[in-house]
Amino acid sequence: PAILRSNYAPPNYLVDTVELGFDLDPALTRVAARLTMRRNPDGRSNEIVLYGDAVELVALRMNGKPLTRRAYRLNGGELHIPNAPDEVTLEIETALQPDANTSLMGLYVSNGNFFTQCEAEGFRKITWFPDRPDVMARYTVMLRADKRAYPVLLSNGNLVEEGDLGDGRHYALWEDPFMKPSYLFALVAGKLVCQEERITQPSGREALLQVWVEEGNLDKTQHAMDSLVNSIRWDEARFGLELDLDRFMIVAVGDFNMGAMENKGLNIFNTKYVLANPRIATDADYANIEAVVGHEYFHNWTGNRVTCRDWFQLSLKEGLTVFRDQEFSADMVGTDSGRAVKRIDDVRVLRQAQFPEDAGPMAHPVRPDSYVEISNFYTVTIYEKGSEVVRMYQTLLGRDGFRKGMDLYFERHDGQAVTCDDFRAAMADAGGRNLDQFERWYSQAGTPRVTVATRHDIEAGTYDITLAQSCPPTPGQKTKLPFHIPVKVGLLAATGADLPLVLEGEDAASAPTTRVLELTEASQTFRFTGIEGKPVPSLLRDFSAPVILEYDYSDDELAFLMANDSDPFNRWEAGQRLATRRLLTLTRMVQDQEPMRETTANLETYTAVLHKTLDDATLDPSFREMVLTLPSEGMLAEQMDVITPQEIHTARQFMRRLLARTLRNELVQLVDLNQTPGDYSPDALSAGKRGLKNVAMLYLSELDDTDTHAMAQAQYDQASNMTDRIAALSALQNSSAPGRQDALERFYTEFEDEPLVIDKWFALQATSPATDVAAVRALMRHPAFSMKNPNRARSLIFSFCNGNPSRFHAADGSGYRFWAEQVIALDAINPQVSARLARTLDRWRKYAPALQSQMQDALQRVAATPKLSKDLSEVINKSLATD
Ligand code: ARG
Ligand code: ZN
Repeated sequence: PAILRSNYAPPNYLVDTVELGFDLDPALTRVAARLTMRRNPDGRSNEIVLYGDAVELVALRMNGKPLTRRAYRLNGGELHIPNAPDEVTLEIETALQPDANTSLMGLYVSNGNFFTQCEAEGFRKITWFPDRPDVMARYTVMLRADKRAYPVLLSNGNLVEEGDLGDGRHYALWEDPFMKPSYLFALVAGKLVCQEERITQPSGREALLQVWVEEGNLDKTQHAMDSLVNSIRWDEARFGLELDLDRFMIVAVGDFNMGAMENKGLNIFNTKYVLANPRIATDADYANIEAVVGHEYFHNWTGNRVTCRDWFQLSLKEGLTVFRDQEFSADMVGTDSGRAVKRIDDVRVLRQAQFPEDAGPMAHPVRPDSYVEISNFYTVTIYEKGSEVVRMYQTLLGRDGFRKGMDLYFERHDGQAVTCDDFRAAMADAGGRNLDQFERWYSQAGTPRVTVATRHDIEAGTYDITLAQSCPPTPGQKTKLPFHIPVKVGLLAATGADLPLVLEGEDAASAPTTRVLELTEASQTFRFTGIEGKPVPSLLRDFSAPVILEYDYSDDELAFLMANDSDPFNRWEAGQRLATRRLLTLTRMVQDQEPMRETTANLETYTAVLHKTLDDATLDPSFREMVLTLPSEGMLAEQMDVITPQEIHTARQFMRRLLARTLRNELVQLVDLNQTPGDYSPDALSAGKRGLKNVAMLYLSELDDTDTHAMAQAQYDQASNMTDRIAALSALQNSSAPGRQDALERFYTEFEDEPLVIDKWFALQATSPATDVAAVRALMRHPAFSMKNPNRARSLIFSFCNGNPSRFHAADGSGYRFWAEQVIALDAINPQVSARLARTLDRWRKYAPALQSQMQDALQRVAATPKLSKDLSEVINKSLATD
């Protein structure tokens, strides 16, 4: 039963105040709710609609009187009270079993403490409620619990009172001064400790910041606190947005379905995105923590102050907030090529995860038209493509224009629940631009293709760039209308310098060297004048739109761009295009059982320019690391009509070894030159050096000789931080080094008490090409493995299914049978996790026939299993659909 966007109707009743009383007990928690409600003038009838999910209704009173069973209707998850008066006080009592709640939605227990997760529809697992984001109310929350077991009691807003109840129990009363939808409600109760800090904002407002963790983790909170302070400062400076609360809390929990949650004033985080010190966290972890802390903090304005009218508008807050966290992270780096690295990282995620989603059976627009289970729509399309859509406003309106649009958005909608159209209208009105056609980025799924043709007229000195767009069909959308696409371009002269760009009919004075061409029709030609020699075009600079750009570059042109483009993104891009060509040629040779030869693969052009880039000390080390990194196996698969994972793997490994041999001296030098002695610091430059050094070391490990073994072993033994330690461990695992097994065992013993590090230990093995299904099954029997903890399940099962393509896609289908078993087993525990794993096979039709049929068998086996969750059946049904 799909929910349709077109069926949206305003709520019949609004809620002014919510009082909640919790008697917390893991086995039986009682919740008393009192809601004051009134008829919505925009509503359709005098029927009250409440939602509940697996929650026992103990009592229900309206305006002081118990409601008889005849006075309301219960159907599945809905409770209807017809003919209600205009002003209503509802009192609702429910009973829950938090310790039996393995879905990690609603109220649950993790390591003995209580936590909640209410987005999107978890509040209805706590009490019956008009659980929809356009119902906003003021909350007061009374928490009662045993004082010894649960000394800390937290909820949204301000603590107004606390005290003892006499019987070993105590209470805390919290009041949130802001109206909020139910999905932003949160409580936390348990044995926790915090690091705190006070800040003063430009307006003079003071706030208390806290990071709450389990005892023993206080040595891992500094980076999260620093990231929070930086986020607050950044939002003030870049968007003029201040923290509106007296108290802002972050709480870490080891069992969590996603990354983190922006509950008003009480953000709840997966430990993975809070806990860090040099011993346990890598540079990537530090960067992720900064990004996620920023993300959740930025939601306080984009999500909480202005929220979504309905869940179809999810990208209104998620796309915008991802854009904000991406900009924050980029601003924290500072240098140009450092900023480009952040951009490259984000685009890699988009291409590797979102483009495939857009081309598969789960493809949906940034603002979907229908869903079965909203949890399935927390996708890379909503988040990452949504962020690209927001970025395009900034590209079209300029930074200042975008800021004006944001200001207008808050001026109009503060305190409201609104739509993506409202956001677009604010941007259009503030920028004085017509953005009607831009709406198609929200309504049409699929990745647009932009093909480019160029023509140089030497005589006339003109250069034509013709852009043509198309978009493949997606489920339910056969044909597409043209998008409004900003295409940033530059033209390089033979010297490598940027040419001034003068469009025909324009004044040549002060012409810029990068311009945004706005493609709005199926095909358009832009003519530049004053172009004497034939230039090399630099197209889609900074990846100015989420499209696939096709242009028939020669190898020499790509090498030229790689060496000279002033746009660092395109400099990297040119190298990736060159490498992709070589890798696809090699893959074809493997498929045809031709011996791979470097001459046939024509690697000289690529390695020559790679040499030059690696030597260029003016480029950030992190940028050189990116250039040195080959397109992933997944990226290559995306470029093929029929995917053959084994052959891709063989080809890419061949090229890695070849590069290691060709660049050996260079790589050894990079390892030497990029050491970071002294105290660990996660700053971008130090992290970049470690990244470059470690990628060089990993290449060298392909040579699998005593020198490279010794290098990895020495780094492993001497490492003073997790980045270097795990890289060395990975290099050892990637070789036949005699110390490899010993290192793996030592690593486990050393970090046995650090769950996040043990996750890394599982993931490292799960993604090693040496690990087959049987080995994964063996690891599942390890005492440290658990299916119930999402991080642990992801570290082993997801890492294998998604991150070890050559083993997962074993010709005998054993990987797929394993997948089906795990999807089914997980579904009984946690539907969000099982539905996520189910996505692994959704593009089965893209694979070689022999694999395809075995994938289909596995999907059908899951489909035939009784009592699947709504989450999982939506994914499986859509995967098998013949649309
Ligand atoms: N709003 C959160 C974030 O992006 C994620 C919500 C998690 N949703 C869920 N259904 N578990 O920051
Ligand atoms: Zn978010």
